[in-house]
Amino acid sequence: MSLQSHRDELASTACALAARGKGLLAADESTGTIGKRFEAIGVANTEANRRAYRSLLATAPKLSDHISGVILFEETLFQDSVDALGEPGAPLVELFSSRGIVPGIKVDQGLEPLAGGLPGESWCTGLKGLQERAASAYARGARFAKWRAVLKISPEGSPSDLSVRENAWGLARYARTVQEAGLVPIVEPEILMDGDHDIETTAAVQEWVLRTVYRALSHCGVFLEGSLLKPSITMPGMACATPPSPELVAEFTLRTLERTVPVSVPAVLFLSGGLSEEEASVYLSGINQATTPAPWHLGFSYGRALQQSCLKHWAGHDVAAGQQALLARARANGQASMGLYVPGSEPSDGAPLFEANYSY
Ligand code: 13P
Repeated sequence: MSLQSHRDELASTACALAARGKGLLAADESTGTIGKRFEAIGVANTEANRRAYRSLLATAPKLSDHISGVILFEETLFQDSVDALGEPGAPLVELFSSRGIVPGIKVDQGLEPLAGGLPGESWCTGLKGLQERAASAYARGARFAKWRAVLKISPEGSPSDLSVRENAWGLARYARTVQEAGLVPIVEPEILMDGDHDIETTAAVQEWVLRTVYRALSHCGVFLEGSLLKPSITMPGMACATPPSPELVAEFTLRTLERTVPVSVPAVLFLSGGLSEEEASVYLSGINQATTPAPWHLGFSYGRALQQSCLKHWAGHDVAAGQQALLARARANGQASMGLYVPGSEPSDGAPLFEANYSY
């Protein structure tokens, strides 16, 4: 099928994902990454436990009040659920979609070292066979996709020109390919928070990266109205002495987006990138409190910042406690996406979520 034949559907999916007061739950941790999460709560990384945990997410009451879409790992997209008694249930993807939560799929296949780049730079793999994988995800009920490219800021001069170009081009090739299969691409050029650089440095790098990404998307003929951007919130490096105020973060984040992101993109859904649950909500709310309204829906597509408390409260057995914790952070971020979050008004796990050189 051509992109042309999918345009209306792509635009309407992107619009549904950008619903007011809602955002995305990024539950697409690879098997290795969910293993790290489980290890922290003493749960074995078995298929049965992954199924049980993702069933908890899919059956959380009222989740769709605050969550418009969920990003799944391939295993979950093709997995059936279990109910509270451990009995097999409906496919997980149907549980989400029947409750009005649009299912999506992570289609990148991870990062590899970038030959010719600076130490630690990467490129994102997954273009080979993507057309076929996108078509089978669509047939199974997925309506959007995600591809995470990663850039870093370092004293050695990263990101290099090569890394910016390569990651932008990969995002554009992916976006065009999945649109041809009817999936809305989430374009995710993450700038890692590792380092001690200031917020101005991050903003300058992010402007360069986003400008390069949208030039590449244009080269590949990506239909912007049927695409979404998932950037990092513009933050100084994690090793900077004092955390910035929400006002400063809002100012730099909005300035960066206004200078680079076309208004035809319906929504900008931030990643949490190692911010704590509470910080991710407070900064998002600050961004939405700006006096001049932004031309895009400014929402969230959080992984760690939506699931940390949930995992701890679940701890492998307490489904209701896990669901309550998930709902609290979903509510907080729903409020934040309208600029209405009152700091501390929802419970959260205060633990720092930052991990150096994070891989998803
Ligand atoms: P975090 O919110 O944990 O950064 O994850 C979002 C995501 O999907 C990363 O690709």
